[in-house]
Amino acid sequence: MNAQLKTCVFPEAMEARPMVFADIEQVLAVEQTIYAFPWTQGNFTDSLSSGYSCWSLSSAQSLIGYGILMVAAGEGHLLNLGIAAHWQKKGLGRRLLHHLIDIAKGDGVDMMFLEVRPSNTSAINLYLSEGFNEIGLRRNYYPANGGREDAIVMGLSI
Ligand SMILES: CC(C)(COP(=O)(O)OP(=O)(O)OC[C@H]1O[C@@H](n2cnc3c(N)ncnc32)[C@H](O)[C@@H]1OP(=O)(O)O)[C@@H](O)C(=O)NCCC(=O)NCCS
Repeated sequence: MNAQLKTCVFPEAMEARPMVFADIEQVLAVEQTIYAFPWTQGNFTDSLSSGYSCWSLSSAQSLIGYGILMVAAGEGHLLNLGIAAHWQKKGLGRRLLHHLIDIAKGDGVDMMFLEVRPSNTSAINLYLSEGFNEIGLRRNYYPANGGREDAIVMGLSI
């Protein structure tokens, strides 16, 4: 079965399903509230157009979260993971991350990578608790208020 077509059911009638272009407006609305330096509409459109593994997590009423995974040459790169602010700290980010790791495994990935801001302790705690290790640092990688911020590169053997 094509991993892209798999749908993962979350409790409380939420489900992770492949993102479609029509989701982008809602995804962008969430993105703009949870990041100081959000992705643009073009970043999401390009991710979908490029065939990246893009997932939406929705309730019956609204879009709650999303994840973007790029798979190439046996490596999975987690490019974005977001949960709407009022849905955070309920275990959904972890569950969506599990879903993306399962998708990566199904696509033959044996190593996952991601970048995260050193200031993003919520995300770092999540990744560390899932077994990701810090494997490098990209200097001045992210835009930041008044300058640039490094990126911690993390990896997970799956
Ligand atoms: C990072 C993010 C996806 C986590 O999603 P979430 O649904 O809030 O996280 P969960 O409830 O599944 O929590 C999983 C773990 O993350 C860590 N965590 C989450 N929120 C935290 C907080 N406010 N402070 C410290 N650790 C936190 C904890 O280790 C937590 O495990 P625990 O509940 O057993 O303590 C979410 O905070 C988010 O969307 N942040 C903004 C976007 C972002 O920074 N994305 C990551 C980019 S690399």
